Amino acid sequence: MGNSNRPTVIAGNWKMYKTIEETISFILECKPLIKDSTAYAFLAVPFTAVRAAAVTAKQTPFVIGAQNVSDAAEGAFTGEISAKMLKEAGARFVIIGHSERRQIYCETDELVNKKIRRALQEMLQPIVCVGETLAQREAGKTEEILKTQLDRSLHGLTKDEMKKLILAYEPIWAIGTQKTATPEIAQQAQKFCRQVLSHTWDPDSANQVVILYGGSVKAENAKALVDQPDIDGLLVGGASLSVESFSRIVNCQQKKNL
Ligand code: PGA
Repeated sequence: MGNSNRPTVIAGNWKMYKTIEETISFILECKPLIKDSTAYAFLAVPFTAVRAAAVTAKQTPFVIGAQNVSDAAEGAFTGEISAKMLKEAGARFVIIGHSERRQIYCETDELVNKKIRRALQEMLQPIVCVGETLAQREAGKTEEILKTQLDRSLHGLTKDEMKKLILAYEPIWAIGTQKTATPEIAQQAQKFCRQVLSHTWDPDSANQVVILYGGSVKAENAKALVDQPDIDGLLVGGASLSVESFSRIVNCQQKKNL
């Protein structure tokens, strides 16, 4: 399965970093540096910065999104944010089921499934994260875990809905640890994820789904990762916070498509 027909997406996940002013400066500084890139540059910014980022990003290659969304449409849910609010603020995508949400805020696959449905209803593109812990990998359970997460998180989605998602394989042992998965390990896991989609839906639809790798991506290892056939882009945490490293990662693909 070559990835030539799938777009390349480099998505920055800023987590709880950057104020509105810092967000605007980042986009303005980064814009000229990525103007020749063939990749889409997604930025998942803090809620408070979504509006300003979306306005600043007009007529730039940036696509702005958020890092979480409520599963409910609206209601008495103190501290939550709805898909409709994010959409109105200018978000075009939302990260759902990041391992920090799963581990720190106890989000389950079932909740992830509801959030995906809610985001799709509001035409927000979900970036759905899956990945195993170190203990699960060492116990030889990586594929079992990935299959369970995919089956439950994507349960009941139609083929058309499934094709609208972006998937992110993020091995938990690689997030924020400087222990990047080797391109071969990531490729193997991502190929497996595509096979699961293929069995649940069909090979042609599975082949259209963009699958990102995330976990200690840096400018130095980005190209070797996206050169793998089932790695269609990257979800970048720490290295997306600096204009210099994020622009280098967005540009890493250039040579491949020339
Ligand atoms: P990292 O984070 O690049 O800092 O490892 C990735 C992520 O959490 O999405």
